[in-house]
Amino acid sequence: MKKIIYVSIVIIIGLLMISCEKQKPLKTIEDLKAAYNGESTASAKYAKFAEKAMEDSLFNIATLFRAASKAEAIHADNHKKVLEKLAEKIGGPTIGEFVVKTTAENLADAIKGESYEVVTMYPDFIKDGEAESSKDAVKSFTWAFDTEKKHKQFYEKALAELKAGNESTLPNKWFVCPVCGNTYDAGTVKNACDFCKTKKAKFQIFSNV
Ligand SMILES: [Fe+2]
Ligand SMILES: [Fe+2]
Repeated sequence: MKKIIYVSIVIIIGLLMISCEKQKPLKTIEDLKAAYNGESTASAKYAKFAEKAMEDSLFNIATLFRAASKAEAIHADNHKKVLEKLAEKIGGPTIGEFVVKTTAENLADAIKGESYEVVTMYPDFIKDGEAESSKDAVKSFTWAFDTEKKHKQFYEKALAELKAGNESTLPNKWFVCPVCGNTYDAGTVKNACDFCKTKKAKFQIFSNV
């Protein structure tokens, strides 16, 4: 009799574990892992692009790359926190391969990467998160999505000014919200973050002056 009760308990626990597992937002978890690796790669890549711009004495573009590198690291960390909350075991990120070229080519590469995230990746991931009712993931994806739209424009402007020989007219100071990664130049920064309401006093400043 005792044996039957024991076996029954084991079966019930097993069934409960299977039903819990089924409720996990599996597609969203897959997306979070991809975004975690993608943002980590972008952060590492922009840090190297910043070094290259410094070598070329393109200090304003280097500062933009440094600020964007930090923003991508914040996005990666936010995605990781959501995965941890979903009880997913996460090790270090997988950094994808990239090549450092001229600063103009690096900017073009950055624009391509941001475009993919803005046009394809994050819209799809946000839809998946909404379909699986994963609020935390949707928030993390949306903060990154809205930031990447801005990064794309910053890089496009930087490339245009570089080609026109006007690199020195680009912003030399950038602010990054430590909570959502939102990125501002000195002309557009506000007292609180547009996306997450974090106060400006907490923003990380990147400056070449
Ligand atoms: Fe970005
Ligand atoms: Fe923010």
